[in-house]
Amino acid sequence: MVNVAVIGGTGYSGAELVRILSGHPYAQLTMITSRRYAGQPFSDVYPAMVGTVNLTCEAFSQEAVSRAADVIFTALPHKTSMAVVPRLLDQGKKVIDLSADFRFKDPALYEAWYQPHHAQDSLKKAVYGLPEVYFDDIKGASLVGNPGCYPTGVLLPLLPVINAPFIDSGSIVADSKSGTSGAGRSVSLATHFCEVNEGLKAYKVAEHRHNPEMDEVLSLFSGQTVHITFTPHLVPMTRGILTTIYVGLKEAVSTRDVASYLDAFYEDKTFVRICPRGTFPNTMYVRGTNYCDIGFQVAERTKHLILISAIDNLVKGASGQAVQNMNIMLGFAETAGLDQIPFPI
Ligand SMILES: NC(=O)c1ccc[n+]([C@@H]2O[C@H](COP(=O)([O-])OP(=O)(O)OC[C@H]3O[C@@H](n4cnc5c(N)ncnc54)[C@H](OP(=O)(O)O)[C@@H]3O)[C@@H](O)[C@H]2O)c1
Repeated sequence: MVNVAVIGGTGYSGAELVRILSGHPYAQLTMITSRRYAGQPFSDVYPAMVGTVNLTCEAFSQEAVSRAADVIFTALPHKTSMAVVPRLLDQGKKVIDLSADFRFKDPALYEAWYQPHHAQDSLKKAVYGLPEVYFDDIKGASLVGNPGCYPTGVLLPLLPVINAPFIDSGSIVADSKSGTSGAGRSVSLATHFCEVNEGLKAYKVAEHRHNPEMDEVLSLFSGQTVHITFTPHLVPMTRGILTTIYVGLKEAVSTRDVASYLDAFYEDKTFVRICPRGTFPNTMYVRGTNYCDIGFQVAERTKHLILISAIDNLVKGASGQAVQNMNIMLGFAETAGLDQIPFPI
């Protein structure tokens, strides 16, 4: 058993970590921190957890966290994470950070899209936590930068084909539709029920901060500079991201050829399911699970490959992937604590 703590445990991704870790066979959740709810039972904040989680939220203290746990999940806003992670690493802890603070290889890119980076020594040690691609690096890591939710939904379908000879990598357009839990638990007008219900809107068009994260990973992985055009949309549902990616084709390609790239890449990867030909992902089918479902179609008439993925933003897009990373870092079965059966409907 390993003792684990969740910093920022009352936010949406923190609470999802608490849910998953509470059922983990090899992890003991010993601490949940929160500023607003310090002193209150976690199950008062999330009544669904009555009888399941008996911990009381505590104010964050570096010393107390270090005493309580050997693996620490930081589910904090960006900028806040980089203020706490370096000291945890100095104390020999393993850290999985869910913010953007440790996702970028190039600090200048982070600084261009976020703010000055004050933990660049830690950033150098960080590994990008996309397990289906960087398993071997994650295995030896002390710090994992857990990927963004949109990048997870875009990268998993794209990486297997990005270097295929038929792909025009300068032509990629991705569009994602997300449930509102992606914006976190803080109250804001943009995610207020009446502003979202019965509507569907694009936001941060051509300026979403997850775009440079996608570009950096695609470029490093493929060995060429890749910039994709990305537009996120807000959908009146709580969980889930559906992503549709349009890729220009340089030459004709058959469905069978595309399938061979995806099938080979994900042959032994439990959490990526390639949909049977002619069927497509639905956020409903991955709800509450760590799966990423991928479907595709070759549009022969317009010479495009269309890739579609579905994830639960709070699980494969955040906390499930974070636990998957912990499992790999500690040598546990990758699926430990993540074997939830999907809801059939
Ligand atoms: N939501 C998603 O789908 C998703 C997906 C992937 C990644 N992420 C990333 O995960 C992180 C958390 O996101 P979230 O959606 O869970 O956000 P959230 O619901 O707003 O939760 C944020 C948590 O951090 C704490 N917090 C906020 N400001 C703080 C500060 N200045 N100092 C210390 N604690 C602070 C909050 O609790 P107190 O205010 O009580 O301290 C809360 O527990 C973010 O970096 C986000 O980008 C989220």
